[in-house]
Amino acid sequence: MINREYLEKRDTSNEITELSTTEALAEAIENGLLVEVKQVIGQGKEAFVCWGIDKYERNIAVKSYKLYRTIHRGVIHGTHRTSPYEVIAQFAKLEYYKNLDLFEAKLPVPQPFKYAGFSYSMKLIGDEHGPAPLLRDLSKNFFDDPSEILEQCVDILYNMFKARYVHGDFSEHNLLWYEDQVYVIDFLQSKNFALKDAIGYGSPLVPLTRAYRILRKDLNSLLPFFKRLFRIEVDYNEVLNYIMGDFKEKIDRELELNLEISS
Ligand SMILES: Nc1ncnc2c1ncn2[C@@H]1O[C@H](COP(=O)(O)OP(=O)(O)O)[C@@H](O)[C@H]1O
Ligand SMILES: [Mg+2]
Repeated sequence: MINREYLEKRDTSNEITELSTTEALAEAIENGLLVEVKQVIGQGKEAFVCWGIDKYERNIAVKSYKLYRTIHRGVIHGTHRTSPYEVIAQFAKLEYYKNLDLFEAKLPVPQPFKYAGFSYSMKLIGDEHGPAPLLRDLSKNFFDDPSEILEQCVDILYNMFKARYVHGDFSEHNLLWYEDQVYVIDFLQSKNFALKDAIGYGSPLVPLTRAYRILRKDLNSLLPFFKRLFRIEVDYNEVLNYIMGDFKEKIDRELELNLEISS
């Protein structure tokens, strides 16, 4: 039984224990995120993801955060560390809202449904037979024209940047292939950006120049995957310039300003 008293007791005791998968799913059921568990489909360091059915009989994915273990006491993903349980509850909520922003900007992301406790639910990319495969799990011969897949990925980055977002972990590990379309998931580390001057103290927005660095890193993991698996080579700077679109001038200007300040 997971209740506040129980968690507070865990919090104050010396040893902080992680919720087991069963406990986390019991909590998600209690909170009305799902009514039936089908299968655990992802098990990472920070979270696990489960395929289930909600009360409207929709196939959903529930992402549930595990305890955040760190000695770092500063701000994590814009969340001030209070209790470890509050931090992971914040993670679920933060990721839900970033996912929602991107969904509303019409990007190919799962529709988010609800957050509660340490979890949030979203539409399953896939169907009643199960989740769609990740790009990393597909073989080289799966696609007739793999360059089209790369184009889709680049378009996602372009449209995300236009919506003032960078993903931050854009790789074959977070891209799903379903009904001839690439879908992107996993948004906790995604950042919403703005011009430096427009950002007030304590704002969750990151400056455009930081977003630019994150975008470069994302491209540095995406392009080598296509080179390795499909032998597709494209010009890094050309793709980068394309994705930056109308922001390019602003980025150049802000990078120049940064140089002036630091020199
Ligand atoms: N909406 C979804 N539909 C289908 N599969 C999903 C969905 N969300 C997550 N998954 C699966 O769960 C795995 C883990 O999800 P992800 O959000 O990437 O968590 P992590 O932070 O652990 O990497 C993914 O690799 C994918 O296989
Ligand atoms: Mg992931």
